[in-house]
Amino acid sequence: MNNDKNQFHSLTLNRYPKPSDPSLKAWSAADEYVLENIGQNIDQNVSTETIRTLIVNDQFGAICCTLNHKHTTLWTDSLLSKISIQRNINRNSLDVSPRFINQTDSCFLINEQFDLVIIRVPKHNSLLTFQLECIAQHIHPQTRIVGVGMTKDIHKSNLKIFESILGETKTSLAKKKARLIFPQLTSSFFKTDTIKNIPATDQSPHRDILRSNSKTYEIKEPSIKVFGLPGVFSRDNLDIGSRVLLEYLPKTLPNKSLIDLGCGTGILGTIAAMQNPSLRVTFTDESFLGVESARETFTHNFNNKKETAEQTNDSEFSLSAEENASKYGKAFFKVTDVLDGLPDNSYDYILCNPPFHQQNVQTLTIANQMFREGARKLNPQGQMWIVANRHLQYKTSLKKVFNKVSIVSNHKRFIVLLASNPKR
Ligand SMILES: C[S@@+](CC[C@H](N)C(=O)[O-])C[C@H]1O[C@@H](n2cnc3c(N)ncnc32)[C@H](O)[C@@H]1O
Repeated sequence: MNNDKNQFHSLTLNRYPKPSDPSLKAWSAADEYVLENIGQNIDQNVSTETIRTLIVNDQFGAICCTLNHKHTTLWTDSLLSKISIQRNINRNSLDVSPRFINQTDSCFLINEQFDLVIIRVPKHNSLLTFQLECIAQHIHPQTRIVGVGMTKDIHKSNLKIFESILGETKTSLAKKKARLIFPQLTSSFFKTDTIKNIPATDQSPHRDILRSNSKTYEIKEPSIKVFGLPGVFSRDNLDIGSRVLLEYLPKTLPNKSLIDLGCGTGILGTIAAMQNPSLRVTFTDESFLGVESARETFTHNFNNKKETAEQTNDSEFSLSAEENASKYGKAFFKVTDVLDGLPDNSYDYILCNPPFHQQNVQTLTIANQMFREGARKLNPQGQMWIVANRHLQYKTSLKKVFNKVSIVSNHKRFIVLLASNPKR
């Protein structure tokens, strides 16, 4: 990917993490289409120095770097996207320092009004709903809002969400398999209840919106309530792969330390902690909403509930989990890229249901990185437990970093792998 140029503006844009398939670019036809549209329609009297731009879900920075607007706010739930965008800004020595926000920031969109909003349609409708409901609080009658995505990723259900939150919505013709979405903001929109009436004193109105877009479900063995914020993996029910992994996991792990790597709702680490109250658990994910979900799942099920409620009352959703791994009882929560920032040679167990997609592209890059870093973080007696779809060939990559790798399950769709004796 090095030195790949964006056809529009001669920028050098790379993906992060670097993909194993070098033909994967750091921009798509959807980025090109929206940039072309914005370029054609931006009012020439409006200076890029003053326009207040909100870009939501930019993947690698193609939109942000090409527009190069001075007052840009970037909202992404993905730490990987944030890293990617920042690196591309630096790589091109751009004079733009966007404000990165995520919904766990205390200053999340407080008192903001935007003139231009570009939103890449996210994979999950729950995240789209949450994001549009928040955006609806920060627009004025002249705000231009454009949704964008590849046609295969834009469905009727997405358009219905745009319509229900922002009003009548039109779409463009498809171009190079990409499509744009144009909500038609009318004056009636600004008079209706669509914009929730937020008391001026409330410093975090989005907490209510986040709460109303969250889900919980219960499982019986062991009895546990799982919390899933918008867009988080398997927030509606227990993933079959995770269920299979839990069946094979040793039930007794006394006085040990464990990492729930790519924790999502935190189901794996929380169940392990409930079965082993002396266990120290570290939850990591690159999704801010994932780590917040894990925090909720853990604190609800494990800690002394009253104490936890008091502890989290004011800080709920306001901690920047990325900067401070926060501690509740015996659990630590960290938004990080795989296991970055955790000590080497220090853990007894790692549980992992690795992702095999980054956004909409299939990739083994992240899983392989998880195995490499997992082997480094484990102590010499440590074990890494992995669940995967049968068709994914993880054993070969695991053998590069562990001396012993065995398949311990015979489920027809999933395999559970146990990797131990990390190579030094
Ligand atoms: C298949 S899901 C598993 C979620 C959860 N452990 C479960 O079993 O339900 C994979 C998780 O890995 C996370 N992830 C993806 N890339 C990551 C990275 N570079 N670092 C940390 N987590 C990552 C995703 O956000 C997602 O929550």
